[in-house]
Amino acid sequence: MSAGYPNIRLRRTRATAWSRALHREVLVTPADLIWPLFVTEGHGVEDPIGSLPGVSRWSVDLVAQRAREAAAAGIPCVALFPNTQPERRSEDGAEALNPDNLMCRAIKAIKDACGESLGVLTDVALDPYTSHGQDGLIDGEGYVLNDATVDVLVGQSLNQAAAGADIIAPSDMMDGRIGAIREALEDGGHINVQIMAYAAKYASAFYGPFRDAVGSRGLLKGNKKTYQMDPGNAEEALREVELDIAEGADSVMVKPGLPYLDIALRVKEAFQVPVFAYQVSGEYAMIEAAAAVGAGDRDALVLETLLAFKRAGCSGVLTYHALHAARLMGG
Ligand code: PBG
Repeated sequence: MSAGYPNIRLRRTRATAWSRALHREVLVTPADLIWPLFVTEGHGVEDPIGSLPGVSRWSVDLVAQRAREAAAAGIPCVALFPNTQPERRSEDGAEALNPDNLMCRAIKAIKDACGESLGVLTDVALDPYTSHGQDGLIDGEGYVLNDATVDVLVGQSLNQAAAGADIIAPSDMMDGRIGAIREALEDGGHINVQIMAYAAKYASAFYGPFRDAVGSRGLLKGNKKTYQMDPGNAEEALREVELDIAEGADSVMVKPGLPYLDIALRVKEAFQVPVFAYQVSGEYAMIEAAAAVGAGDRDALVLETLLAFKRAGCSGVLTYHALHAARLMGG
């Protein structure tokens, strides 16, 4: 052995493309992606979102077309978010219970277009339907009431399930909602409708463009800190996840994504459940902004971040880049 040289050379397996491919520990494929889609009223309408360059709101007919493209690219599931017309928003968010609301019409159109080739995940929370932009019912001081909100969320979930939703995804962060929704789904005969709990959802500054997209940003007074988690907390995320699993969640989500990869990994290590991450609107906008000023190659940035989620133990990722990424992967 010659002195001064390493016996172990980790660069050996990195020396060629074939060897790097052979030793790669995780892969990301189109099947790992969930594509969030924004729905708006009208027919033949594409309505671009200024703070989310490259992302639009689509009318129901066009959202069904986008869903077909997603399925063709190997994406297994889309997530739906409605931009409710202002006149249909109210203090109590009652439009969430309307069986003919935008969300329900979009679910049906996608199910008609794609059948079993594509799952439909629906967000449960009242913010796209309330005149105050909060995720639940508020009292005189603007405080979001827990138990009264859960009752409405149960109704919203049943409404979505009846329209054909495959995965109910409560994003409201009320206590006890997973158990209440699971029980109602069972009682209602929707035994195979899954629940993906937004279990560890943080009160984040990364949601701005999303609120533009659903039209709640200008309406929102105050913030969501009395129900969404404090960004400094990790142990509390494990308690949230533990509770949601005990209440019947089939899978759990961590949100936002990249700034909270440590949470995703800790959840995966602590619980043997499918973990998903939501690479949220502000993260998407950050990548687009970086690429626009030439700070990095957009496609490479996108694929690297998606791979990071898989490395952190995630089963999949909700990302606005889903269709583009799937096509980059050959889907
Ligand atoms: C609503 C909801 C939000 C997001 C998903 N569902 C916003 C919020 O909590 O204010 C954010 C998604 C994103 O930023 O891409 N309950």
